[in-house]
Amino acid sequence: MIRMERKMFFFTKLCTVLIFTNCVSGDYPKAQNVSWLSINFKTLLLWDPEPTNYSYTVEYSIIGQNRKKNQHCIRTMETECDLSNSLVDLKAIYSADVLSEPLRGVNSDLIEFPHTTSERFTPYEDTLIGRPEFKIEVSKDKRKITLYVEDPLTALFNKQNQQRTIRDVFADELQYKVTFGKATSTGKKTKISASSEIELDRRDVDPGVSYCFNVQAYIPSRSTDKQLGELSQRQCSPGDDKSVFEEYGIGVIATFILLIIMIIVVAIGVTVVCCKRRRNANRSGKEGVPLRSV
Ligand SMILES: *[C@@H]1O[C@H](CO)[C@@H](O)[C@H](O)[C@H]1NC(C)=O
Ligand SMILES: *[C@@H]1O[C@H](CO)[C@@H](O)[C@H](O)[C@H]1NC(C)=O
Repeated sequence: MIRMERKMFFFTKLCTVLIFTNCVSGDYPKAQNVSWLSINFKTLLLWDPEPTNYSYTVEYSIIGQNRKKNQHCIRTMETECDLSNSLVDLKAIYSADVLSEPLRGVNSDLIEFPHTTSERFTPYEDTLIGRPEFKIEVSKDKRKITLYVEDPLTALFNKQNQQRTIRDVFADELQYKVTFGKATSTGKKTKISASSEIELDRRDVDPGVSYCFNVQAYIPSRSTDKQLGELSQRQCSPGDDKSVFEEYGIGVIATFILLIIMIIVVAIGVTVVCCKRRRNANRSGKEGVPLRSV
């Protein structure tokens, strides 16, 4: 029996090799542009083109180990496969193959389908860290600004079925980089913080001045081109009333005050002259009528 099967197997293979166009129901195109797209451990394998008369199956494995399939990516008509929860060993090096196969339910004699292999991918090293959210708090004496960074959530879950944050995954290896400067100037400073609570004190900021901040994840253990995450939205701290001076400069404000003084002086001068004239007119006209106003 076994020998028979072997023979059959050999035959189909031979047939495939020799006169493949007759044995195969179609010559499926290979997947192209196979690439990884991964943010916060949400990891997709993408490829082209849209299938017409065939389907795709994704096989993945840690390099040198057995290939596995994700049940959602077998004979699929999609051009993407979510492998977030398949790449369980975050520090392992994975590779994936996209196979072009017959439509679901259609048999084929083909032993090997055309396939395209992806680049290697290690979730822990390669996933992009998305932009973090943060809150700004200025101390009462205005000498200290604290940024409270919210560690971004990942697509991974722990055993209690809670979503893990990037802090849960990277622990001490996760730091944050803050880029900041006075709201009124283009100068920029940076500060690296191991904690998600970032304190900026007198060495970093002037008291009572409005500063603007961008925050991004920073993982120094990674290769240099993958250390920095996406930049957050820019947010600014409130400043003092003093900032009016900084915004317009003392010269402009002094000129403005001088102008107001001049207007007042002119106004007083005009009223004085007017009153004198009226008094003179009154005196020369109806004498004896008491002055209504002084
Ligand atoms: C699709 O493939 C089937 C067999 O696999 C074939 O009979 C059919 O003609 C094909 N259709 C198109 C549009 O190529
Ligand atoms: C592969 O990507 C290139 C560049 O983005 C694009 O021009 C090409 O059409 C893609 N291939 C397929 C089959 O879609």
